[in-house]
Amino acid sequence: MGQETSDSATLLAEKVAVVTGGGAGIGGAISRVLAAQGAAVAVAEIDPERAAAAVQDIAARGGRATSHVVDVREPEDVQRLAEEVVERHGRVDVLVNNVGDYLKAVPFLRSEPDHWDDLYRINLHHVFLVTRAFLPGMVERGVGSIINVSSVEGLRGFPADPVYGALKAAVVHFTKCLALELGRRGIRVNGIAPDLTRTPQVDYTAGVTPEQEKMWKSWAPVGRMGLPEDQADAVLFLASDLSRFVTGHTLPTDGGSLAGGGWFWSPSRRRWVNRPNDP
Ligand SMILES: NC(=O)c1ccc[n+]([C@@H]2O[C@H](COP(=O)([O-])OP(=O)(O)OC[C@H]3O[C@@H](n4cnc5c(N)ncnc54)[C@H](O)[C@@H]3O)[C@@H](O)[C@H]2O)c1
Repeated sequence: MGQETSDSATLLAEKVAVVTGGGAGIGGAISRVLAAQGAAVAVAEIDPERAAAAVQDIAARGGRATSHVVDVREPEDVQRLAEEVVERHGRVDVLVNNVGDYLKAVPFLRSEPDHWDDLYRINLHHVFLVTRAFLPGMVERGVGSIINVSSVEGLRGFPADPVYGALKAAVVHFTKCLALELGRRGIRVNGIAPDLTRTPQVDYTAGVTPEQEKMWKSWAPVGRMGLPEDQADAVLFLASDLSRFVTGHTLPTDGGSLAGGGWFWSPSRRRWVNRPNDP
């Protein structure tokens, strides 16, 4: 749906959207999909080349987008972003807090406070900073949809780095709490919790042999790897009036991995198993 530019593509006509990390990966797809549905998109991105490429791509498809080269971890950058967006677009209707990174996964036993701080800055603090910067304008107009990108690791236990898991869970809970504060002011707050999606950060194709490719049927209940557009279409739903009665929720956009829990599809046995030699 996101690639359409026909007259019917108007779910976000006249809307202005800000997408953090909007130049590549899931954020890049979100920028393209929202623009294809009529939104003017402010691409807030630390990498100037990614930002320029996303804006160019959107323009080539007849959409509207502006580039804002910022590090969302930096309060001055976020302040500048808010000023630039209002100057260029007049207001903000949709905010997608997409930036996040597991950095290097470190077992808690070996982790140090510097690592916790780095994870905090890239996964949670900027969600507060950017939301706080754009909220007064939304409240003034009584209009807004905020979408926070968490992770399936914020909904289930993440053994590789408990601090990352805890911070993504905090994004989910912030989403819930803020939704309650803002519901009566016309602003909805929701989130997505991705998994298994091929992006520059998580290249699910790296080192996978053709033989292993077939294992996707076992790894993901939907039977395939996720693509950034799979995430972006869920964000489109939450950004638009299609979800007008939905607030405070984080939608697992995970190909079914959370629902599957510890169960895996065994292609050879043609049934679900939960241990290697399940009889
Ligand atoms: N890919 C997955 O399967 C997956 C799984 C779970 C959660 N997520 C979450 O989805 C979101 C996007 O993930 P992705 O895989 O697309 O990541 P990615 O690293 O591939 O893309 C992130 C984008 O944000 C930009 N960026 C990074 N730091 C920034 C900063 N400080 N300021 C502004 N821009 C910055 C990057 O340049 C890049 O364009 C993250 O919150 C991530 O935790 C992804």
